[in-house]
Amino acid sequence: MLSDIIDVLADPIDGTPLSGADDFSRLVSESGHSYDVAKQGYITLAGGAGLRYTGDDTAMVNSREVFLSRGHFAPFVEAVSMAVNDVLEDAGVPDNAHPVICEIGAGTGYYLAHTLDDVHGARGVGIDVSVAAAKHLAKCHPKVGAVVADAWARLPLRDESVDAITVIFAPRNPAEFARVLKPGGEVIVLTADAGHLAELREPLGIIDVEEGKVKRMIAQAEGHLVPVGESWPVEFEMNLDQDSITTQIGMSPSARHIDPADLKERILALPPSMKVTARAMITRLAKV
Ligand SMILES: C[S@@+](CC[C@H](N)C(=O)[O-])C[C@H]1O[C@@H](n2cnc3c(N)ncnc32)[C@H](O)[C@@H]1O
Repeated sequence: MLSDIIDVLADPIDGTPLSGADDFSRLVSESGHSYDVAKQGYITLAGGAGLRYTGDDTAMVNSREVFLSRGHFAPFVEAVSMAVNDVLEDAGVPDNAHPVICEIGAGTGYYLAHTLDDVHGARGVGIDVSVAAAKHLAKCHPKVGAVVADAWARLPLRDESVDAITVIFAPRNPAEFARVLKPGGEVIVLTADAGHLAELREPLGIIDVEEGKVKRMIAQAEGHLVPVGESWPVEFEMNLDQDSITTQIGMSPSARHIDPADLKERILALPPSMKVTARAMITRLAKV
């Protein structure tokens, strides 16, 4: 709930602290700006110009919810949660500290909810620019506060307020991440790697992940964040039937690039069930 993370939230316009008003139906900043909490429990925290992006639409979010609920990406979730635990341990965060984990581009909150179940006493801030995603995020876990905000803009978070940031197949803003991380805090990034969904690429006509993605991500963070050790791969095989393949493609950008009738035809031409590789890299980044 938003009340669990109110000590972390800041006015998106001027960065002053936010607090709850009228039984948390609004958040107000020290400078007097007021933001209404939506009846579904999330809050939109955008600066004066509003949001420049809309993020994933309802159909993509629904596909994501179905695909992830089947557990196909469970090894990714476990790897991210383990990395968060390692980061907190390395930073010496005590067990009773109620650490704050913020996921950027959190989607339905599947990863954040699992991480919170895994990290004793943790609280979560789920940020996504998609309203459709925020509706899921707001109910994904009792300790998650759901915020609609743009990852490319000033984050509506106070300076040095977050213990760990997770970014799973989502946008990164290294300068802002460095600003909001507590000393010793880190960013954990999961990036798709070449070979991810390899068996589906040719038959469905979807483009492969480009080589050197992690290197470029590290270069873009220069001056704000530095890698902690080497990135490491998480690779496993999934058994996907045609319905799961449909939801996997439906939750990805490919959903926007392929004509739905063509896609349906190509999926129907696949075997009823097939082995598909999932492959991503995990990178830990600390403040410079
Ligand atoms: C590929 S999805 C990943 C969602 C989630 N991390 C997961 O793996 O289930 C990318 C997410 O980033 C969100 N997103 C895209 N652009 C964004 C932005 N500028 N600010 C915040 N979120 C954004 C999308 O709405 C979407 O939910």
